[in-house]
Amino acid sequence: MGALLEVENLTVWLATRRGPQKAVDGVSFHVGVGEIFGIAGESGSGKTMTAMALLGLLPHAARTSGRAVFDGRDLLAMSARQLRAVRGRHIAMVSQDPSTSLHPMLSVETQLTEHMRHHLGVGRSEARGRAIDLLATVRIPDPERALSAHPAQFSGGMRQRIAIAVALACQPRLLLADEPTTALDVTVQAGILRLLDRLRREQDLAVVVITHDLGVMSAVTDRICVMYGGRLAEVGLRQDVLNQPRHPYTRGLLDALPHPEGGAAALRPIPGSPPPLGRVPEGCPFHPRCAFALPSCRTDRPEPVLVGDAHASACPPDPLGGAA
Ligand SMILES: Nc1ncnc2c1ncn2[C@@H]1O[C@H](COP(=O)(O)OP(=O)(O)OP(=O)(O)O)[C@@H](O)[C@H]1O
Ligand SMILES: [Mg+2]
Repeated sequence: MGALLEVENLTVWLATRRGPQKAVDGVSFHVGVGEIFGIAGESGSGKTMTAMALLGLLPHAARTSGRAVFDGRDLLAMSARQLRAVRGRHIAMVSQDPSTSLHPMLSVETQLTEHMRHHLGVGRSEARGRAIDLLATVRIPDPERALSAHPAQFSGGMRQRIAIAVALACQPRLLLADEPTTALDVTVQAGILRLLDRLRREQDLAVVVITHDLGVMSAVTDRICVMYGGRLAEVGLRQDVLNQPRHPYTRGLLDALPHPEGGAAALRPIPGSPPPLGRVPEGCPFHPRCAFALPSCRTDRPEPVLVGDAHASACPPDPLGGAA
């Protein structure tokens, strides 16, 4: 089956006082129909800008290059008008903060039905019926009563479910979920992830889940990529990347995860911090923090190369020697 989304060499320059700076630098990945693809990486690695570029929602004066072919059409080459027709209808987004996805002053019914009526041309009562179904799909208790409520009347987890229902209102084929669970406690997180998994199975929805948390990744994703300094460090099947990481950065992220039995002592954070915009080092962007860096890592720009079946790493020498 062909990919639903094929991102090729995506580069994003953001306008800064020091001129245009790369927030995303030559990133390529694909997402299949009904697949859950994860984008992981520390803060500032370019995850959100990657998603925003796909939807044409980048900050003012940003520029892009590369291609992002969705269902046969290049999103990066579309006019603002063409993108508006795709956004919400074929590709929807849920952000980390439900307050940005939901309007505080509008009822849940208005927010659920507005896009349906606009994009799908359905009448008021049909839209209302669909809205009730959607709220039931995301497991909001008493959907009929919920319709007349406002977002503030719900808990954080419920608001995030409503935001997902709004995103799904026009039956998009792709959902971009940017940190959909970060603000939520662990039990609620698990519920949201199960929901995404169910939607993919029942509706063939493809999902891109963005998170800095590899633990979240391991719960639902089919394949994942790890970004650092706007670049792709590693990409592959979830079990390959998480069980046999090839890039020292991926390994570092995994070592930094709290161990279920280990308490805080098991945490081994990666020393240093990720580079800010415009300060990404030459060569391998991770080299200043990497215990395995060679002199060439300071100068040679590594591109991801295949290290296994559909598993690519920008650090092919396997400095970890495969050691667990
Ligand atoms: N509006 C903006 N103007 C200038 N720089 C920005 C803007 N938004 C993001 N950046 C910078 O672009 C880089 C990539 O940011 P991005 O938001 O994509 O990171 P992220 O991986 O989503 O991080 P986080 O995990 O914190 O959400 C960062 O260095 C960030 O500071
Ligand atoms: Mg982000």
